[in-house]
Amino acid sequence: MQKLFGNKVKELRSESSFSQVQLSERSGIERAQISKIEQGKINVTLETIYKISQALNVPIKDLFDIEDDVKLKPFVKWAGGKAQSLSKLIEAMPESFDRYYEPFVGGGALFFAVMPKNAVINDINGELIAAYKCFKSNTSYNKLIENLIEHNNLHSEEYYYKVREMDRDASFNDLPLDLRAARMIYLNKACFNGLYRVNSKGYFNVPSGKKDKVNSFDLNNMNNIKKYFDTNDIRVLNTDFVIAVQDAIINDFVYFDPPYDTFEDKATFTSYSKDDFGKDSQIRLSKLFKELDKKGVKVMLSNHNTAFINELYQGFSIQVIEAKRAINSDATKRGNVEEVIITNY
Ligand SMILES: C[S@@+](CC[C@H](N)C(=O)[O-])C[C@H]1O[C@@H](n2cnc3c(N)ncnc32)[C@H](O)[C@@H]1O
Repeated sequence: MQKLFGNKVKELRSESSFSQVQLSERSGIERAQISKIEQGKINVTLETIYKISQALNVPIKDLFDIEDDVKLKPFVKWAGGKAQSLSKLIEAMPESFDRYYEPFVGGGALFFAVMPKNAVINDINGELIAAYKCFKSNTSYNKLIENLIEHNNLHSEEYYYKVREMDRDASFNDLPLDLRAARMIYLNKACFNGLYRVNSKGYFNVPSGKKDKVNSFDLNNMNNIKKYFDTNDIRVLNTDFVIAVQDAIINDFVYFDPPYDTFEDKATFTSYSKDDFGKDSQIRLSKLFKELDKKGVKVMLSNHNTAFINELYQGFSIQVIEAKRAINSDATKRGNVEEVIITNY
């Protein structure tokens, strides 16, 4: 609250073109005190609020015209979603950085929790990225919401399979962004276990979740995400992870959350697209991690705690954490597994 109030004072002072010194002279509040108020470092009294409103020549209520702290959440359920380990990841992030990069964004659990002002997000999954791109255009966004309402209204077992079949048609990729995005979000919510999986031909192949009613979206959250995209600098890419971070420079931050290395003895879900992410991809990623490290980029990476991953990232800081695996078609394999958070800072 102190921070929000401080930001508001700063905003109104700048609108009136007063310096902190001028506001201090007009209000009788010491300049150092004004600086602390604007930084959200102190609680203010009613008297101070009154003095500031008089000095800025604005009604007191304008000083409280502040938006509540909006929290965003992922609009799809994604395998490997980070809801479980989110607090540990936030703790492990660097204190400051310039641009935020997330080249394997998936459902974007960390991205939405952090809400960076300047970010590049990417995923190889074109259907998922179609949805993120809709937040960058008013027209696509409005159509996306209309399509989602229609999917909700028309939902039935038969309808689910009709929508699922759409990608078998050769012209599927020419469909507008909003149609592809709405299909993906609806299928994600209506399918069994809420995961995105395609077969070797790239066709979505998850069976129906057999739900009587499907609510594909939370309108409030969607509108908040749209507002966030409108007011910040967010680039959305659909390419390989190496290309996605190619312009990262010193003091930028990259969070890698790739499909995980597999445990020899446990069947874990790592297949998100028709191209599998095998040991060779893990090696390609570790080389990129090291190149970024040399450039002075701050890098954080999540993975399973396997011997192979420990070997690839030897010499970097490796923190082991316990995580719950929610998505596995076999319920008996949904136990705890060890993950690592690797950082170069
Ligand atoms: C572990 S998931 C990310 C989960 C995400 N952090 C979340 O909170 O939902 C890995 C993601 O990597 C994407 N992916 C797989 N191979 C890729 C590649 N070569 N380049 C970029 N993204 C890739 C998958 O489509 C998937 O969305």
